[in-house]
Parts: sequence; structure tokens; C-alpha cells
Amino acid sequence: MTSPRKTYIIANWKMNFTPGEASLYLSRLMKRIPAGRNPQVVLAAPTVALQTVSLQIDRRQFKLAAQNFYWRDYGAFTGETSISQIRGFVDYALVGHSERRYIFNESQEDIAKKVAAALRNGVTPVLCIGETALERKDGETAAAIYNQLASGLHEVSKEDISKVIIAYEPVWAISSNKNAKPAKPADIEKAQMVIRQDLQHIYGKAIAEAVPILYGGSVSSDTAAGYLEIEGIDGLLIGGASLIGDSFCAIVETAKRIKNER
Ligand code: PGA
Repeated sequence: MTSPRKTYIIANWKMNFTPGEASLYLSRLMKRIPAGRNPQVVLAAPTVALQTVSLQIDRRQFKLAAQNFYWRDYGAFTGETSISQIRGFVDYALVGHSERRYIFNESQEDIAKKVAAALRNGVTPVLCIGETALERKDGETAAAIYNQLASGLHEVSKEDISKVIIAYEPVWAISSNKNAKPAKPADIEKAQMVIRQDLQHIYGKAIAEAVPILYGGSVSSDTAAGYLEIEGIDGLLIGGASLIGDSFCAIVETAKRIKNER
């Protein structure tokens, strides 16, 4: 059955690349990734490189995402960047990534405000959620998912939820985690169903169906297919493997084959 939702492959370059390095890497990707809307390829470049790469990309081939921003639009907030300052460069913005939650102590309240700020500025928020290893061990995965989802979407109306993307990233599977281990597709299938049910509970069945759910956490060119074959998974958020041209291009190819075959 063909999914009514688009497929997304999002590269999270994290705190890697100077503007010059990002530009060089992008020029290599531009030669290898065909333009097209399925999958939609999105590059979350570091803030410092967004202007450079936005002048370089063909928007039919790539869209850009912010990795982070402050939720107020302007004002006396030394060192911060607002989404209204960078919305000319990006169509998407990551919000609530586990590295922001656990390294920079971002609160659920901050995350809800960022989701609202992105929507207010015409940018699609990619709300990242996922349980920690401890929550998983304690059998609290579903509770952690519901909690992060409900609080992150606290300010999102029924009209706006179709403009949001959810990325399920169990913290224990993200490569920056010391003891990271790749998740099994069966775990992801279960979690994806929990997320879809939670969305239905909050917004109603028909509206919830429109929201894309992505998976992220140690995805490589070898494991991508296993996740993309899951019926309710609409794409991937990729960290480490997105910095290696061969791996990233192979993942985009895999997504194209699997999601367009259906
Ligand atoms: P990883 O990162 O693919 O390196 O695990 C994913 C992420 O942090 O979004």
C-alpha cells in the first residue's frame, strides 16, 4: 500500500564542518543525489554554515534544517539565534534532540516553545523524542514517548499538527551515547505504533495519519533498509553516517527504492 505521507531523509551534521568544509561536502552530494521530492532530502547544517549552503543548494534537490535556535524572535539574548533570523535559509528545524535535552538541559517547556516558534515562522519542526536506556529497562518506553510527545506538542493546534514531523530516536541507540547499540526494527515498529496511537488520542485518527514519523539512531547504509521497510516509518534522521558521502548517498538510494516501490 502506498503511504499518503512523504518520505524524508534528514542529515544531522551536528557540530561538524566549517562553512567552507560544508560547502565542499555539499558540492559532492549535489553531483550524486538526484533532484526529487521522494525522498525529500534535508540537510541540518551547523548554524554558521546555513547561509553559505543555502546560496549553493538547488531547492528541488535539497532543503535545509536548523539544528537549534532560541524560541523568542528577537531581543537581548546574547549569543542566541532565533528561527526568525534564519527562516530565510531553512524549511525545517530539529527540536528536542536528545543531545539538546541531556547535554544542554533543554526543558520540555523550552521544547514546546521552540515547536511553536518554528510554526509561527513558517518552518516545519522535527520534534525528536525517545526514551533513555534506564526508562527502557524500567519498562517506561511508552510513558516516556507519550510524555515527550504531549508536552512537545502542547501548543500545537489541530490545524497545525500536519506541519510537524516526529523523529523517534531512542537515546540508547544514538551513536553519541557511550554504550549505543542499534535498535532492532521490531522495537521501532512497536514504538512507531505507540506514537501513532498517541497522536490519534491527542488529535483524532484522520489528522494523526498525516504526521510523518521518522526513525533515528546509529542508522548506517547496512541497516537503513530494515527501518525503511517498516510500514509506518516515513524516513530517517541520520547523524554519523550522514558525514560520509558514500553512506549517505546509499541511504538516499535505498529510501527511494523502498518507498517508491510500495
Ligand atoms: P547517529 O545520530 O545516526 O549518529 O546515531 C542520530 C542523531 O543524533 O540524530
